[in-house]
Amino acid sequence: MNLRERLLSRPIVYRTFKRVVLPSGTLERLVADHFVVAAGGRVLDLGCGYGDFAALFADRCSYLGIDHNAGYIDRARVLNGGSPAEFVVADVADSIVVERGPYDLIMMSGVLHHLPSDAVLSLAATIRPLVSPSGRFVAMEPVFDPDQRLTARLAIAADRGRYARDEDGYRALLASSFDDVDTTIVSGMLRIPYTHAVITARP
Ligand SMILES: C[S@@+](CC[C@H](N)C(=O)[O-])C[C@H]1O[C@@H](n2cnc3c(N)ncnc32)[C@H](O)[C@@H]1O
Repeated sequence: MNLRERLLSRPIVYRTFKRVVLPSGTLERLVADHFVVAAGGRVLDLGCGYGDFAALFADRCSYLGIDHNAGYIDRARVLNGGSPAEFVVADVADSIVVERGPYDLIMMSGVLHHLPSDAVLSLAATIRPLVSPSGRFVAMEPVFDPDQRLTARLAIAADRGRYARDEDGYRALLASSFDDVDTTIVSGMLRIPYTHAVITARP
């Protein structure tokens, strides 16, 4: 881990970074437009970080956040104190993911680009049977796109996640297990030049 990665692995540094780059209301818009689940649904947030999505679900859904960074999970528990949201220190490949299913929404925000392709293929095969028949898997990831500005491409190439892909790359990995995979390119979500792909997969 280099110095930048060590700093960002601290919840206070990562939280400050997100506050700088994310315009207010962004998470609410993502939940309304992409991380969609009906009231009463079961949500699994894989790689939940310090749990900033939890408050947008926990008053109407069951919410389980999993992350292998114990510092992030500690922070998530503090920030969501008094909420029914649950946070567990675990790897996305750990058995708790299967044991606690099924889910109506399995979400990953900025996590697939931290995982090599064999890990994503294995994860897709594991979670596919855990998505309820009317449910979905949704990931939002940095993406290389021919139409993006060079500055966005450079920012994504410099990300601490080493496996950013193009749209087809993400789609192919999820399509190995899911029948129905859609991708959408989203530009301009952050205050810095950046491009995201939203990958939605249904069983
Ligand atoms: C860019 S951060 C995104 C955090 C959060 N989802 C968000 O939107 O702010 C990537 C997260 O994935 C977690 N992560 C990466 N690989 C993981 C793995 N194999 N198992 C569990 N968590 C993982 C990291 O600890 C980190 O919290």
